[in-house]
Amino acid sequence: MRETVGYMTVERVYLLGFMGAGKTSVGRALASQLGWSFVDLDAEIEHSQKMAIRDIFEKSGEAHFRRIEHEQLVRLSGRPHVVIALGGGATIDPENRLVVDSTGATVWLNVSFETAARRVSMDGTRPLFRDPDHAQRLYESRLPIYKLARIHVVADNRSPGEIAVEVAERVQEL
Ligand code: S3P
Repeated sequence: MRETVGYMTVERVYLLGFMGAGKTSVGRALASQLGWSFVDLDAEIEHSQKMAIRDIFEKSGEAHFRRIEHEQLVRLSGRPHVVIALGGGATIDPENRLVVDSTGATVWLNVSFETAARRVSMDGTRPLFRDPDHAQRLYESRLPIYKLARIHVVADNRSPGEIAVEVAERVQEL
């Protein structure tokens, strides 16, 4: 046995899903249950650029943001025993999907659009959550990509701790 919980063949857990799915709060709870470290990809991007995500988008555009996101993901994918909360668009890039699929277990936190919209404050911190109609189209266009995750977890109306317990159990079954 290598971990604090059960037999784990997995070295990393990647949490994915739409903005407002709870990736960061579930990620923290999961990391503490597993005795692993937690990293938030968006926070790493901000730290590496010394700039908020919305400013990166504003100053240099989305394509530039996606390049940094890819670089940071590749860097983090070498860390042992880590739970990584991805940004909502991180696995749209097929290269990023190769990275996460080859280095860990992917978990989709599946929330309804209504839950996501309620949780995300429309204060401009998320440049791609501009208005409800645009965000809903984005949500729908991404569902097929999120469904490629190895584990699907319903994340509506549940606490981060409760979701993390289910994720930990399901990851140990892999
Ligand atoms: C994005 C989601 C954000 C952040 C950026 C782009 C997206 O992360 O990476 O604003 O494309 O869905 P969260 O999902 O953590 O809000």
